[in-house]
Amino acid sequence: MTGFSLEGKVVLVTGSSRGIGRAIGLRLARAGAKVVVSSRKLEHVQAVADEIEAAGGESLAIQAHVGRTDEVRTLVERTVENWGQIDVAINNAATNVHIGPLLDASEGQWDKILDTNVKSVFRVCQAVAPHMEAQGGGKIINIASVAGLRPSPTMGIYSVSKAAVIALTKALAAELGRANIQVNAIAPGIVKTRFSQMMWQVEQIAEPILAHLPLDRFGEPEDVAAMALYLAAPVSDYITGAVFVVDGGMNVASAVG
Ligand SMILES: NC(=O)c1ccc[n+]([C@@H]2O[C@H](COP(=O)([O-])OP(=O)(O)OC[C@H]3O[C@@H](n4cnc5c(N)ncnc54)[C@H](OP(=O)(O)O)[C@@H]3O)[C@@H](O)[C@H]2O)c1
Repeated sequence: MTGFSLEGKVVLVTGSSRGIGRAIGLRLARAGAKVVVSSRKLEHVQAVADEIEAAGGESLAIQAHVGRTDEVRTLVERTVENWGQIDVAINNAATNVHIGPLLDASEGQWDKILDTNVKSVFRVCQAVAPHMEAQGGGKIINIASVAGLRPSPTMGIYSVSKAAVIALTKALAAELGRANIQVNAIAPGIVKTRFSQMMWQVEQIAEPILAHLPLDRFGEPEDVAAMALYLAAPVSDYITGAVFVVDGGMNVASAVG
């Protein structure tokens, strides 16, 4: 489709061995992109890369922990060595090591969540931006959360980290616009992955959420991948610094009763 083709583009997705990152990798490969699949476990990312290749796409599996600057730099260098460019970077890897009252958390939990969810975005952007600038442009997509717009109960630090990702998205969009690099964020609601399984698998928790969810279902990773395709493709070239909510209406749930 005009404006939605990623033919000839190189895309890097962090945390793409499963869940939303995997779905994004598969979707963007179907649109023609060469996809670097990455996470901490090589055998898992290799399986996704194999899936992309089996479907007729091109993919490269690279192990990288987004909390480690040297691994992030190597990830980007190997991408550029292999395919000569990097057009789209998707910051998807994240963690949540504390659930419960925010003030019960330890400093170690704060550091882990902020480092993995926020500073990692800085690391990846710092590594990819010079390549994008030299090429004449690029796109960065940060996976935030509706929790970054309205804090989720018992997930206080995670919510703070996702609010920071949104602020980082806007700050970078302002700085990188003149280099023709667009920076946008996606804020998913509850999406059926391992990360959120307690919320959609435990009936006592899932039912009250669904009762107030306008679209009456939890999200699928492909729902988020569709938005990633839009933001990765030329059709969105004039959009930067924006946050796209993909949440089945969760964000307006109180307004609709
Ligand atoms: N699911 C939801 O309801 C939901 C809602 C809003 C936002 N989100 C956001 O969506 C993104 C993806 O979440 P998901 O639900 O797809 O989670 P998931 O199924 O748990 O997948 C997380 C991915 O990140 C990788 N990962 C974790 N820590 C990493 C690290 N330090 N370095 C590199 N890779 C790492 C994991 O692979 P390895 O274990 O192999 O490293 C895995 O591929 C996250 O940013 C999350 O905050 C999710």
